[in-house]
Amino acid sequence: MARKIIIDTDPGQDDAVAILLALASPADIELLGLTAVAGNVPLALTAKNTRMVCELAGRTDIPVFAGCEAPMNRTLVTAEHVHGKTGLDGPTLPDPTMPLQDTHAVDFIVETLRRETPGTVTLCPLGPLTNIATAFRQAPDIIARVAEIVLMGGAYFEVGNITPSAEFNIYVDPDAADIVFRAGCKLTVMPLDLTHKALTSRERVEAFRAIGTPVGKAVAEWTDFFERFDKEKYGSLGAPLHDPCVIAYLIRPDLFAGRHINVVVETEGRFTTGMTVADWWRVSGRDANAHFMRDVDDTGFFSLLTERIARL
Ligand code: BDR
Ligand code: CA
Repeated sequence: MARKIIIDTDPGQDDAVAILLALASPADIELLGLTAVAGNVPLALTAKNTRMVCELAGRTDIPVFAGCEAPMNRTLVTAEHVHGKTGLDGPTLPDPTMPLQDTHAVDFIVETLRRETPGTVTLCPLGPLTNIATAFRQAPDIIARVAEIVLMGGAYFEVGNITPSAEFNIYVDPDAADIVFRAGCKLTVMPLDLTHKALTSRERVEAFRAIGTPVGKAVAEWTDFFERFDKEKYGSLGAPLHDPCVIAYLIRPDLFAGRHINVVVETEGRFTTGMTVADWWRVSGRDANAHFMRDVDDTGFFSLLTERIARL
């Protein structure tokens, strides 16, 4: 049976590919809605970009909600240096015509979890955790109803990408991340340790292009654009497709491996705010609260992605 999910997102080229992977996989995933959050770019753009991706896939039936425009207690930090001015630089796509829903994203998350059978809805955050933590704070009764949270965020061995010690999604709203990591839900984390192994290559990007459809072409052009930054920064051959790892995990968990460990979020560090302190070696004595992933079968991941994107 398809797993019911809500994707909370800040597109972002890699968010866009993650959304497309979900839309291409109806036998595995029932996408109840997309909630936009401020992150890579401000909310007006992430809400717009989310609808552009739905329209590209011809899925104007998926409801899109706008959520929080700033972190819970801090000023928004964005990442135009990675994703370009629009957040989705790369291909030229038409402005969306499908409307945003009137309901606030946080209300949609709360209402959906209260309506659906407990333990049947999985949350998939691909950006800062502001919408999810705000929903948990506003309606603590929903926490026990969440089936699982599978998120992209954090790092341990790879340390940080936006600061020397923090990954972007957690750094932008560490207070929200702290709430989510301490909520007690079943939690699966795709940190940089794993996503930096899911790297594009010329061959992989050309495989998207060779699909020969508008969606395949857009995915190739997004990854082309996205690559430039990481290649320069890390000297790597390609760019990590961070967010699609979340959706791929729902479809093929066997491609991923990690450990059940304790992970806490630093909210007050002098140099380490937003760090995910992962007790990989189990030395803290603190109880495990997360399935913290470290390895991915990258060949299997890219074959899945290419095969599914070709269905759109
Ligand atoms: C995360 O930050 C964003 O730039 C990407 O979309 C991804 O969700 C990687 O640190
Ligand atoms: Ca993202």
